[in-house]
Amino acid sequence: MLNLNLWVPKPLKLPAQQAESTASGAQMPRPLLRIVILNTKGGCGKSTLATNLAAYYASHDYRTALLDADPQASSLHWLQNRDGAHKAITAINGADRSLRVTRSFQLRVPPGIERLIVDTPAALDSARLQDMTRDADAILIPVLPSDIDIHAVSRCVAELLLAGRVEQRRERVAVIANRVKKNTLVYTKLQRFLSSLGITFAASLRDTQNYVHASEWGLGIHELEAHGADQDALDWEPLVQWLERRHAQTDAAVAAIASAQTATQSTD
Ligand SMILES: Nc1ncnc2c1ncn2[C@@H]1O[C@H](COP(=O)(O)OP(=O)(O)O)[C@@H](O)[C@H]1O
Ligand SMILES: [Mg+2]
Repeated sequence: MLNLNLWVPKPLKLPAQQAESTASGAQMPRPLLRIVILNTKGGCGKSTLATNLAAYYASHDYRTALLDADPQASSLHWLQNRDGAHKAITAINGADRSLRVTRSFQLRVPPGIERLIVDTPAALDSARLQDMTRDADAILIPVLPSDIDIHAVSRCVAELLLAGRVEQRRERVAVIANRVKKNTLVYTKLQRFLSSLGITFAASLRDTQNYVHASEWGLGIHELEAHGADQDALDWEPLVQWLERRHAQTDAAVAAIASAQTATQSTD
């Protein structure tokens, strides 16, 4: 039984709450970035990616929430191991049946959260896959460099791209090669496969026990003061930069829509 202080959604009172915190001089939160991690194959590193990304953002002073939609609750267990000396991360149980009625996970996020990381189960059917990704600003797919996994990820990517407008979807998706041993034939094959799909290859993460140790303590690789973890921490930089560029593009798109609406209203 998990002993977490889970956030439970209440009726939305967003504008009033935000106005209060601003009037009291608190810092205005930065706009929310919603990151969904998925791959319909198990064991490829979804929870590892989700927990490390949550730890990265929390340790860089972003108000961070981790929504675990997997009934196995690996990410919530990780959070349970995290001590009070490290930056807090808000836990959201997305596998709770009573919350399934709310399709948009946006409604489950407490006000003020700046970075939302969503961990998903392997067994996602087509409808659930669409549900989980509809509101996402970025979709991250970890993949192991193996023939079986490359084959499985091609089906997963095809399903993602088939729904909705392909171009719009493609630019939200990035693949992360996980447990990589560089200079292997299969790694080269993975690189070639991804460039043929025109999908961003955002990072390569090494196969190392550093991830296993960090996970046991509820930490991310960036918070690990272990010998040799510095290089692993650097591996995340291209991914974080890609995510922040996505955020800037999403913000620009929202601003463009808002200004187009204002222009339409003023000419009415
Ligand atoms: N880069 C890595 N190096 C070493 N072990 C890893 C790495 N990524 C994941 N693992 C380990 O592989 C196992 C499966 O990873 P996990 O993140 O739970 O996958 P998923 O959530 O996709 O099922 C876990 O035991 C995890 O610690
Ligand atoms: Mg998992």
